[in-house]
This record gives sequence, C-alpha cells and structure tokens, in this order.
Amino acid sequence: MASVPSLASNVQQRLADALTAALPEAGAADPLLRRSDRADFQANGILALAKKLGGNPRELAAKVVDAIGPNDVLGDIEVSGPGFLNITITDKAITRTLAARAADDRLGVPFAAEPGTTVIDYAQPNVAKEMHVGHLRSAVIGDAMVQILEFTGEKVVRRHHIGDWGTQFGMLIQYLIEHPHELDHRDGVSGEEAMSNLNRLYKASRTLFDSDEEFKDRARRRVVDLQAGDEETLALWQKFVDESKIYFYSVFEKLDMEIRDPDIVGESGYNDMLDETCRILEESGVAVRSEGALCVFFDDVKGPDGNPVPLIVKKSNGGYGYAATDLSAIRDRVQNLGADTLVYVVDARQSLHFKMVFETARRAGWLNDEVKAVQLAFGTVLGKDGKPFKTREGETVRLVDLLDEAIDRATAVVREKAEKVGLSEQEIVENGRYVGVGAVKYADLSTSAVRDYKFDLDQMVSLNGDTSVYLQYAYARIQSIKRKAGDRSPVAHPELALAPAERALGLHLDQFGEVLAEVASSYEPHKLAAYLYQLASHLTTFYDQCHVLSADNPPEVVENRLFLVDLTGRTLHQGMALLGIRTPERL
Ligand code: ARG
Repeated sequence: MASVPSLASNVQQRLADALTAALPEAGAADPLLRRSDRADFQANGILALAKKLGGNPRELAAKVVDAIGPNDVLGDIEVSGPGFLNITITDKAITRTLAARAADDRLGVPFAAEPGTTVIDYAQPNVAKEMHVGHLRSAVIGDAMVQILEFTGEKVVRRHHIGDWGTQFGMLIQYLIEHPHELDHRDGVSGEEAMSNLNRLYKASRTLFDSDEEFKDRARRRVVDLQAGDEETLALWQKFVDESKIYFYSVFEKLDMEIRDPDIVGESGYNDMLDETCRILEESGVAVRSEGALCVFFDDVKGPDGNPVPLIVKKSNGGYGYAATDLSAIRDRVQNLGADTLVYVVDARQSLHFKMVFETARRAGWLNDEVKAVQLAFGTVLGKDGKPFKTREGETVRLVDLLDEAIDRATAVVREKAEKVGLSEQEIVENGRYVGVGAVKYADLSTSAVRDYKFDLDQMVSLNGDTSVYLQYAYARIQSIKRKAGDRSPVAHPELALAPAERALGLHLDQFGEVLAEVASSYEPHKLAAYLYQLASHLTTFYDQCHVLSADNPPEVVENRLFLVDLTGRTLHQGMALLGIRTPERL
C-alpha cells in the first residue's frame, strides 16, 4: 500500500519549488513551514533569504507567490508582516489527502526511509523478587516503543535483562538444599502462589543468613559452586528462575502485554563473555588496575571528595558486577544481533551507570558513529503526597495490587453505564480490565518519561480530561455512530466545503504519520499520547458543531462526516494499539 505525503510536506515542496523558480540564485532554500493560528500554515523562510541575498523581503515574498502556479492545494496565500506567507489549504486538498489515507491499511503512514536494527532493553524484573512500580514503567514505556518502532519498519530485537545472577543466589540455593521441599508445587501453580513461595523462601533464608554464621559460610561457598558451574547448584538456581518466570508471565499477562521466552536473556546470559570483555578492556588500556580492581576512569565523574569514581568492571575479589554484564551485553547486541541502535528503558537513577558504560563501550570501539546507545530514562512514580510511592506501612507497592485496584475502579465506572449501552456481564468484566489497565498505562505514557508522576487512580479513571478512558469513550462513541448509520456509509466528498471544526479535525488527522516519525526517532511516546488526546478533543468540538446523522443533512454531507468520523476512529484505534491500550467497541 502507498504512503501518503502529509499536507505539510506537500505545501513545503510546492513552496520550495516556487522559491527556486523565483530566485534561481538562492539554490535549494528552506521555506521554513510551520502550523499557524492565523492560517493553516506559515512560511518564515523568505525573511532569512532576503537578508542573505540583500533584497526586500515583502517584494521577494510577492515574487514567490507569483511563482506558485495554479493548483488546487494552496487555496489562499497572503504576504503578511515583514515577509511571512500565511497559507490556507483548500478544503478539497484536505479531503482528498484524507481519502488517500483512508484507502491504506497503514493510514498512509510511510515506513522509515532507512530502517535499522534496534535492540531494546525493557521489562527487566529480578528473580525471586516482587515486581513494583519501577518495573511497570520500564515494561509499559518499552512495550510502546517496541510497537511504534516496528510500525515504522524498524527491525526490533527485544531483550529482557532480568536480574537472575548474583551472590544472593548462594543464600537461596543453600536454604533450598537444607529445606528441600520449599519450592515443590503442583503443576498449574498461579503466578501469585509462585511469588508468595519465593517471598517466604527469600525472607527465611535472609533471616538465617543474618543470624547464623555457619549458614552464612555455607551460603558463600554455594556462590562459589554456582559460579564454577556445579551441576546440582545450577539445577536449583534454574528452579528459582523458572518459578519466577511463572510469576513474571502472570503479571505481564495482567498488563495485557506479550513477553516472549526467547527474548528473556537475563544477566546470566552473558556469563561466558565476562572474562573476554575484561581481557579486551584491559589489553586495550580502556580499563586499568586500581587497588586490585579493574576500573575505567572518567574526567567528569567524581565523588563528593573530588576523587574520581571509576566504573568497576571486575572487583578486587575477582567477582564481576553489573557493569561487566552490561558491557558484555553491548558486545553481544552489536556484534551478534547486528544492532545499530541500543535503547535502554531504565530508571533515571541508573543514568550515571549507563553514561559510564556507554562511554567505556565507545572507547573500546563497540559503540561509534554508526552504532549508538541511548537510555530512555524514566522518573519515579510518586504517591499522592508527592513522595516515592509506598504503602501505608512504608513498603514498596506491589505492582499486582495496583493493577487489581485499577481494574476494580474501572469496572465500577464501566458498570455504571453498562445498562444504557447494553453490556453483558462478560463484557463488563472484559472492558473493566481494558479500561483499568489502559488507565495505568496511559497515565505512565502521557507525561514525558523523565518526569516523576503521581499515581492517582481517581484521576486515571476519570471520564474527563487527559485519560485513556476519555479516549476509549471517544472511540466507542464513533463505533456507536457507525452502527446507527445503518446503510449510510463513510464516503469522502472532496467537492464539499468544510466547516471550521471539520477542517481542524482533518488537518489534525493528517499529522498522524509525522507525529509517529517524530516519536520513533526521539523515543517520546508521550507525544503520541498528546496527539491522540488532541484528536479526541477535535472530535468533541466537531460533534458539538457538526451533526453527523441529522435528517437535515444532504446525503453527501452525512457520508463525508461519517468518513471523517471513521478515519478518526481508525487513527485512535491504531494510535492506542501502539501504546498498548485496547479500544473496546462498546463502552
Ligand atoms: N533488573 C534491573 C532493575 O530491576 C534493570 C535492568 C536494566 N537493564 C540493564 N541492561 N542493566 O533495576
């Protein structure tokens, strides 16, 4: 299917051509087009050009206008101020462009000109530990970026860098050896049960570790066995990983998110590379020995005492840490997976770690001008009091509890309207889930990722304002109009003049592809959320001012309005799907 150039790029092209025709000596000049309140677009480029060539900008602007041949896209062009052009698009061009979008499955959105391979590191919980709101952010933002990038034609490799290695496993495994039946379970254990078993075991082994010196010794020796690859020890370690995965999958399913097993490559997945990574870094001089440890130093990273704080690649006791694993993962992702972009959806509190890891990888040549790495850093989820989100007892909030509560609230909201809409009990339950989970995802995605945000369920499931429910209702309302339309179908009529609300909606619809391209390259899903919210707002104004199915409308007006409504629905549906949010047909 064909991609459809946006009206903005169409106008841009025509103006650029006219500039060259009017002023051949200017070469290829940019008309600097942008959206405007005065007209549809404003071009500011002539001012700078006149300055450069030493002419009168208003005269130059008039010349450019003359050079624009007869056409049916640029309706009205007015020279204004010191030499701007105010441009109004013809109604015909708006409707035609939208009709071309509607004829395409992808709504006319082009594929990226030069797609590459992105490895995206997201949804990375830790084995034998509960998932909390921080893991929510990484999963939700990461999943949206995966969908958006794939939609633009990028090859995306997902990596869930779960915390599945480290000294704490010595204690867990040793405890399990001494209490052999603690992780036994029937088949079909639920995620919740799996987690509560793990939790119990974690706490019991921790208590023993802290109180019993002999157990502590045995646990420490167990770490050595694990690292040496002792078979029995590894088998027990695997048991913890498998049990945790049952739990992770149950949470991801609740989140309505597809996580695939082969994409889970945790910290342990790079164990075989750690030695070599350190050797390469040491031999190339990127890392140096300091107080027995293998370190990388940076001019601009210093502690409060003014002394440099190094990235420790190998500890003085010979152990490897988080940095060695991440550096090995970079080698794997670049050299084996063929990535040209690495994206890390990780808490902003790990920014210094990634800054040092990326800089080290650049010095080693694993990252360079062709292969870049970015951290899509996110802020903290706050409670209503503006402090990091905690339970009343001061504990971190379990992600599942939070989702369950959101679903409960949302189900209540859905139930209130259910009778009027004629929803069955099954639909109420299903929609309650989509609205509840959508509310949580949307709240997370609709503010810029680096910012902290307050977790406020009342606000999240509110029907008014910038919420997913508002967008979901907009979509459901569209579907209801389409059902009421009966045998009247959506048909574009470019010959019709458009009302102001129709033009505004149409021009906004036309920007979908541009917004997606921007979101994909800047890794800012909140801009897609903002676009969709504005789309729903334009739709609301349109409903207020333009009746769709009114008996007073001539048939072609009904068809054209149905066409606008239908395209809005498809754009909402596509955009929400890219954010990982469902749009129920009836609500
Ligand atoms: N498991 C880590 C955590 O819970 C996040 C891992 C981030 N990814 C990475 N490649 N280091 O904080």
